Amino acid sequence: MHLSRLASLFSLALVAVAQDVSIRAVRKAFKAADIPTDLDIVFRPTALLEVSLPQAAGPPITLHAGIQVPRNDTAGPPVFHVVGNVGRGPFVVATVDPDAPTPQAPTEAQIRHFLGGNFFNDGGHLVNSTPAISEFKQPTPPAGSDAHRYIFLLFDQSPQFAQQTLVTPATSIENFNISQFAKAVDLGNPLAGTFMRVAPEPDA
Ligand SMILES: *[C@@H]1O[C@H](CO)[C@@H](O)[C@H](O)[C@H]1NC(C)=O
Ligand SMILES: *[C@@H]1O[C@H](CO)[C@@H](O)[C@H](O)[C@H]1NC(C)=O
Repeated sequence: MHLSRLASLFSLALVAVAQDVSIRAVRKAFKAADIPTDLDIVFRPTALLEVSLPQAAGPPITLHAGIQVPRNDTAGPPVFHVVGNVGRGPFVVATVDPDAPTPQAPTEAQIRHFLGGNFFNDGGHLVNSTPAISEFKQPTPPAGSDAHRYIFLLFDQSPQFAQQTLVTPATSIENFNISQFAKAVDLGNPLAGTFMRVAPEPDA
C-alpha cells in the first residue's frame, strides 16, 4: 500500500473518532478543564451529547470534549444529537462561556450562548419544537484573550421550565449562572455535555 493511501486512511480514521465516544473520557476532560468547579455543577453524565457545527464548505465539525475550533468555523447554529438511553424528552440545552471577557478575569461570565427547551429525542437527533429562549450566539472572544471554553449541557426539562420567567429572550446574556438557573427551575444535574475552545481570530 502506498504511504499516501495509508495516510488518507489514517486521517479518515481520525475523522471517524472525532466526536465523543466515551462518557468517562468526557467526564475526565471536564474535570481537567475545571468545568464542574467553575460552573458549580455536578457532572456525572449518563449519555453523550453530540454537537455539530455546520460549515459553509465541507462536512460539519463534530465536537469532542476540549477540541479547539477556529472561530470562523463556529457560526453554527449547532445541531444536537444524544447517544444513550435518556428517553424521549423534553430536554433543555444550554451553552455557556465562563471565560468572558478573559479566563483570568471573567467579569462578564457566564455568557449565555444558547438556551433552549422542548428538545425531543428523534432517534438520537434532538429536535427543538419551539424557538430557543436565547438563540445561538457565535463565540467572539476579544482580541488578546486566551481561548474561551464554550460548554454545552443537556438537561431533563422540568415542568417549571415552561413557566419560568427568570430568563427570557429580553434578558441580557451576560452574567448568567447555569447552576443557579438549573436549581431555580429544578433541572437537576446535566445528563450529558461537551465543550470546545475558541480563540480570537488571528487578526481580531
Ligand atoms: C470566514 O467565514 C466567512 C463567512 O462564513 C467566509 O466568507 C470567510 O471566507 C471565512 N474566512 C476564513 C479565513 O475561513
Ligand atoms: C452561581 O450560583 C451558585 C449557586 O447556585 C453560586 O454558588 C456560584 O458562586 C455562582 N457562580 C457565579 C460565577 O456567580
